[in-house]
Amino acid sequence: MCGIIGYVGPGPATPQILSGLQRLDYRGYDSAGLVVLDHGRIRVEKMPGKLEHLLDHLKKMPEMNGCVGLGHTRWATHGGPTQRNAHPHLSHRASVAVVHNGIIENHETLRRRLRARGYRFASETDTEVIAHLIEDLYRGNPLEAVRRAVNLLEGSFAIGVLFRDHPDVLIGARLNSPLLVGLGDGANYLASDAPAVLPFTRRVAYLEERELAEIRPGGVRVIDAEGRERPVRPIQIKWDFASAAKEGYPHFMLKEVFEQPRALRDTIRGRTNRQDLHFPELDIPARRLKAARRLVIVACGTAAHAGMVAKYAFEELARIPTEVCFASEFRYGDPVIGRDTLAIAVTQSGETMDTLCAIREAKARGALTLAVCNVVGATIPRACDGVVYTHAGPEIGVASTKAYTTQIAVLELLAVRLARLRGTLSRAEARPLLRAMEGVPLAVQEALECDGHVKRLARRYSRCRNFMYIGRRYNFPNAYEGALKLKELSYIHAEGYGGGEMKHGPLALVDDTFPTVAVAVRGRAYDKILSNMKEIEARGGILIAIANPRDARVKALARHVIEVPETAEMVSPMVTAVPLQLLAYHIAVALGRDVDKPRNLAKAVTVE
Ligand code: F6R
Repeated sequence: MCGIIGYVGPGPATPQILSGLQRLDYRGYDSAGLVVLDHGRIRVEKMPGKLEHLLDHLKKMPEMNGCVGLGHTRWATHGGPTQRNAHPHLSHRASVAVVHNGIIENHETLRRRLRARGYRFASETDTEVIAHLIEDLYRGNPLEAVRRAVNLLEGSFAIGVLFRDHPDVLIGARLNSPLLVGLGDGANYLASDAPAVLPFTRRVAYLEERELAEIRPGGVRVIDAEGRERPVRPIQIKWDFASAAKEGYPHFMLKEVFEQPRALRDTIRGRTNRQDLHFPELDIPARRLKAARRLVIVACGTAAHAGMVAKYAFEELARIPTEVCFASEFRYGDPVIGRDTLAIAVTQSGETMDTLCAIREAKARGALTLAVCNVVGATIPRACDGVVYTHAGPEIGVASTKAYTTQIAVLELLAVRLARLRGTLSRAEARPLLRAMEGVPLAVQEALECDGHVKRLARRYSRCRNFMYIGRRYNFPNAYEGALKLKELSYIHAEGYGGGEMKHGPLALVDDTFPTVAVAVRGRAYDKILSNMKEIEARGGILIAIANPRDARVKALARHVIEVPETAEMVSPMVTAVPLQLLAYHIAVALGRDVDKPRNLAKAVTVE
């Protein structure tokens, strides 16, 4: 989720690029950088941290003159948020500069091949591979060199490329990451998204998958991956800056809910190949992971719920006893931790103080520590022995959504990995699970189609004062998660329960004004959740069920059914989370709440 801006025209590039970068910081703030072709020489300036650091740095440097350039704000995925890893990246002989958004899944293979041809790497990023590759393939035609290079790339990318020998050309290319061309008056632009170019032009042309653009001051040419000419189809942007940053969504939260297919794809793809699993960034030796006899997951809020889902997978697949602890309580107990314990900190921000203190405590007591985190180089991954990153991209809405589902994906992939290491799961048994995991982005995409239906339900029930959420097994933690989302966004009281617990007390709350949201997808406890729903229905409670298509048994019990695609039970919480998130969102909107910034809450909780 990095931000890209490029300019080619008659005027100075630097002010236009810096102005574009100022409107892209919501796409990443790990580093900022720019490249300008200054009197025939490629000049790069980049700084870790927020854009202000780059701006301060530039004040101390000689002016960057030139009429073609690229800028970048980084959300780190491969390599920490350092100056070395900041974009733009230069090719070996400094003839090509590249900025990139996305993940190159085959970067290790390409790196090995380029190394063998004498290329030296200056960073740990996947992006640098692209710069070297383009230089290697360049024979005088920039567009052709980029075309041949991107045909060798796997994964997702939106790239901007500048050539030392071509002072009036920028090349852009994309696959699975958005990229657009801004059409100005005698000047043209390249951008990851519209806000970057809005002050300069409102005429933009979005590139299609695998298209490339050659951008000159006087015009733009688009070709496909085979080199065939493609039409340039400009549209007029009518939104203002704020809604453009949200890509037309009214809130960041809704944008992030809808980003989940992409976030999950980026998190899962490249790690599974149906045969086995790869965690390239995890440098804990397999024998140490295998030696763990106990697992302790520490986390807060939504991240803890992801840990609770994963507990089922760790115990069922890897047969390893797993405890999930709220980090805020963990170190005030006297946790039984030893050298045979693997402690996993789950955290979107990587900065939550409670989680940091808990994982430090586990480490001090001898545990092997691992972070599952969304922010590369954050404090918690640095405090741990190893890390696996979720590739959700920046989460701006305070309520966690895409971080949650990607945390479940990573933890369950880890469960499969551990199970394979421990010999509790054969390769043949792992295969359908990995296939189910690979199917999750599409299932989540389909689940998003319930949005209109959920919105209508939200309007109908937004005046209720209390809600109950129930689920079983893998979907039991989603009852907590659904309730938490509703509480924090709408300020309505809500509780989550395992369906079987209702008869031990909470059933007394049920009457004909009381809605219960039941996650009732098919799985091992399907009959059980149906019995729990029956208990509620018999007492006149309002049942809103999340179920698989054409489920007559659920339909017979529930007043409303929200359908989501059927998947393997293990991966279903990532799919059923979607209607839960949407229900909370739409109820909050119906009540006029500040969805992206709920009262009393902050995105990163860096105090105990
Ligand atoms: C709820 C939410 C919080 C966070 C919690 C942990 O929507 O976002 O409950 O999950 O504060 O934050 P991280 O994951 O950054 O450690």
